[in-house]
Amino acid sequence: MKATAAAHPNLAFVKYWGKVDPRLNLPTNPSISVNLDGATTVTTVAFSDERETDQVFINDQPASPPARQRVVRHLDRVRRLAGVEARALVASRNDFPADAGIASSASAFAALSLAASRAAGLELDERTLSILARKGSGSASRSIPGGFVEWQAGERDEDSYAYPIAPPEHWDIRVVTAIVDQQPKAVSSGQGHRAAPQSPFFNARLAALPQTLTTVRRALLDRDLSAFGLALEREAVSMHVVCMTSPHPERDWLSGIYYWGPGSMRLVHAVQAWRREGLEVYFTMDAGANVHLICRGGDQAELEGALCPLLLELEGWCLVSRPGRGAWLVGEGEAGAQS
Ligand code: DP6
Repeated sequence: MKATAAAHPNLAFVKYWGKVDPRLNLPTNPSISVNLDGATTVTTVAFSDERETDQVFINDQPASPPARQRVVRHLDRVRRLAGVEARALVASRNDFPADAGIASSASAFAALSLAASRAAGLELDERTLSILARKGSGSASRSIPGGFVEWQAGERDEDSYAYPIAPPEHWDIRVVTAIVDQQPKAVSSGQGHRAAPQSPFFNARLAALPQTLTTVRRALLDRDLSAFGLALEREAVSMHVVCMTSPHPERDWLSGIYYWGPGSMRLVHAVQAWRREGLEVYFTMDAGANVHLICRGGDQAELEGALCPLLLELEGWCLVSRPGRGAWLVGEGEAGAQS
């Protein structure tokens, strides 16, 4: 009753921001992402009838009470599916720092879903695994399939899942994640999702999304970086406009939620200047201050050269990723889920 699985986090080109059903993580809109092979979570789950409670370790430390509770709720979903009662030992490790500006909940719940379901004796297909991972963290649904992925919003539990739209080798792009702010973010994405519909721009963003999705999907399939990049920059900014005009859940003296920091704006302006000078690079940002830069594989060295002095000045660093595979079983789990 033991299995180990791994998964990459993913970067959304079209963002998931807002939920129609927070209990099931049914999103307000579809989203499109790529798995980031520069970062990995590896998780082992061992169920045992001898165990009295679930024990959860993250990066070799006991998980905090809220993190443990979130994992236990996910184990409960797996136990219900598999019809098992046993408690589990969960050990999860990230090879990237928590402050990397990369949402670790995506890789965490993708790896946990695969490891726990196998350890419980289930062999779930990709769609069912994506549905399960979604309930742990919405974006985790997109770390189950490989490469470039679309998460269809759906209207019910069973039709809200992610599927591949192109394999990792389809397009040789790089995602250079510039870490310019190492503070833990002040507002969780969960709080941001809840606040979003109160922004007067929420519905305007939703109205623009069908066109954005079509443009991003088409440009991705055509490997048209210019059309792709401009559309995803607008899309990222539209999400942040919603954030900045959504009431902060705990700070009533603030007019909105600001994820951007001074370093984020420095990078936005630098990206525009580099583009004007002929280096084709685009930015996107998630619910944090760090900036993801997207360029062609062949431009990686030039981008890193341009970025280096700025990172030195901002006391930051960067992580480079190529399009990555979907969640996979590791070690003994590969031969068979149970032992
Ligand atoms: C800004 O998946 O972290 O990264 O479902 O509450 O766990 P929960 O939210 P989460 O939200 C991710 C938000 C985002 C955009 C995206 O990844 O699409």
